[in-house]
Amino acid sequence: MVKICCIGAGYVGGPTMAVIALNCPSIEVAVVDISVSRISAWNGDQLPIYEPGLDEVVKQCRGKNLFFSTDVEKHVSEADIIFVSVNTPTKTRGLGAGKAADLTYWESAARMIADVSKSNKIVVEKSTVPVKTAEAIERILRHNSKGIKYQILSNPEFLAEGTAIQNLFNPDRVLIGGRETPDGLKAIQVLKDVYAHWVPEDRIITTNLWSAELSKLAANAFLAQRISSVNAMSALCEATGADVSQVSHAVGKDSRIGPKFLNASVGFGGSCFQKDILNLVYVCECNGLLEVATYWKQVIKVNDYQKNRFVNRIVSSMFNTVSGKKIAILGFAFKKDTGDTRETPAIDVCKGLMGDKARLSIYDPQVTEDQIQRDLTMNKFDWDHPIHLQPASPTSVKQVSVAWDAYAATKDAHALCILTEWDEFKTLDYQRIFDNMQKPAFVFDGRNIMNVEMLREIGFIVYSIGKPL
Ligand code: NAD
Ligand code: UGA
Repeated sequence: MVKICCIGAGYVGGPTMAVIALNCPSIEVAVVDISVSRISAWNGDQLPIYEPGLDEVVKQCRGKNLFFSTDVEKHVSEADIIFVSVNTPTKTRGLGAGKAADLTYWESAARMIADVSKSNKIVVEKSTVPVKTAEAIERILRHNSKGIKYQILSNPEFLAEGTAIQNLFNPDRVLIGGRETPDGLKAIQVLKDVYAHWVPEDRIITTNLWSAELSKLAANAFLAQRISSVNAMSALCEATGADVSQVSHAVGKDSRIGPKFLNASVGFGGSCFQKDILNLVYVCECNGLLEVATYWKQVIKVNDYQKNRFVNRIVSSMFNTVSGKKIAILGFAFKKDTGDTRETPAIDVCKGLMGDKARLSIYDPQVTEDQIQRDLTMNKFDWDHPIHLQPASPTSVKQVSVAWDAYAATKDAHALCILTEWDEFKTLDYQRIFDNMQKPAFVFDGRNIMNVEMLREIGFIVYSIGKPL
C-alpha cells in the first residue's frame, strides 16, 4: 500500500488529502500538523474550516484510509510520498520584508523530513513558493541525507475556497513539475498515478520544476490582474455614466477574453493573491527585472485604491462625516461560502471607517466575533505568522459590535455596506430593514449583488461599484 503523508492540515492540506483518500482507497493518507487544536477539529464533528461538501468527503474516509494526527515524525518516516502544505506568508521583517515569502515553516518541515526519514521519499511542494525553492529544499535534504534518496516535485494547488471540493474533484488541470532525470521522471509518474485515479490523463500536465513553481505564481497574478483591470474600469464607469456590469458582459463575450473573473468589487482578498504577487515582484526585483516588477505591483496598488475609494465614497456620500454613526457591515469573509477572513477587503474598509469614527455593527454567517475582533486589531501581514491560532486580543475594538443576523446589524443604522456576496443578502426583507434604519438610509453595495431599482423604490440611497448614481 502506498503511504502518503501531508504536512500542514490547513485549507489546502485537509481538503486535498481528503479528496485523494476518497478517490484512492488503496492509498493510506495521513495529514499531520503541529497545531493540536486543528488536528482535534479534523478528528471531531466541527471541522476547522467551512467548505461546502467537505464534511461528506471527510466522513466517508476518515478512520479508513484518511487519518489526522499530530504525530508528525511517525507519519513522515513511514510515508513514500510527503506533501508539504505549510503556510508561506509574506516576510514581516529582515531582507525582503513586506514582499518576499517567509519560508521558515517550509524549511523547518524539510529539516524534520531529513531528520526522521529512513527510506527514499518523494517530497512534493504543495505550498505556493518562490521559483527555485525546490533547489533550496533539495540542498537541505541532500546535505542531511544519510544515504536516503529524495526526489522533489512541484505540484501547486489551484483550488479556490468555497469551491474547493468541486475544484479538487474536477480540476481544470493538475500540474506536476520535476527533474528531467530518470529518477525525476519516475517520481513524476508515481504522483501522476495517484491523480490518474480520478483525473483524466489529458488534464495532468508535467513540466520542469521551475515552470511548475512559476506557473502557480503566474496563474494567481493573471487572475488578480483581471480583477484589478475590471475594478479600474469601475472607477471610470462611475466618472462617465457607463455601467461596469454591462461593460464586463460586453468585454467577456469576446471568446479570447471570456466571461469569468470580471466582477467588479470592493477589492480582492484572500490569503494568496496579494502574497503571491508580492512574492513574484520580489523574485523579479532579485533578477533585476524592475519594469516587470513594477507592472505586477500595480495590480496590488489598484486593489488598495479600490478599497480606499469605497471608504471615501461612503464618507463623502454621508455628508462627509460618519463620526458616531452606526454603519452595518454585511459580510466579513473574503468571499462567500467560506469563513476565511485572511486579507479580506472588509478589514481595510472597517479600519477606514473606524478611522473616521464610525460605529460598526458586523454580521457574517460564518465568521465568529473573536475572529472579527482579532482581525481588526492585528497588524498587516501578522495574521499568517502565528503557527497556532491566537486567542482574541483582550483589548477588543470598542467601536465594533458583532450581530447575529442582518436585521440586528442594520437596526438604527445610517448605512449598510455589503462586503461579501453571501446569497442570503439578496433575499433579505429590505423594506423591513429600511423601516428600522435612520433616514436617509444608505446602501453601499461592494459586490454588486443588489437590485438597485428595487432598493431605490423602497427609498434607499444606493451606491454600487461602477454603476451610475
Ligand atoms: P494554512 O495556514 O491554512 O495551513 C498551513 C498549516 O501548516 C497550519 O495548520 C500550520 O499549523 C501547519 N504547519 C506550519 N508549519 C508546520 C510544520 N513545520 N509542521 C507541521 N505543520 C506545520 O494554509 P493554507 O491556506 O492551507 O495554505 C498552505 C499553502 O498552500 C500556502 O503556501 C498557500 O499559498 C497555498 N495555497 C493556498 C490556497 C488556499 O485557498 N488557501 C490555495 C492554493 C494554494
Ligand atoms: C484564488 C484562485 O482562484 C485559486 O485558483 C488559487 O488556488 C488560490 O487563490 C490560492 O492560490 O490561494 P481564492 O483566493 O480562494 O482562490 O478565491 P477566488 O475565487 O480567486 O477569489 C479571490 C478574491 O477575488 C475574493 O475576494 C473574490 O471576492 C475576489 N473576486 C473574484 C472579485 O472581486 N471579482 C471576481 O470576478 C472574482
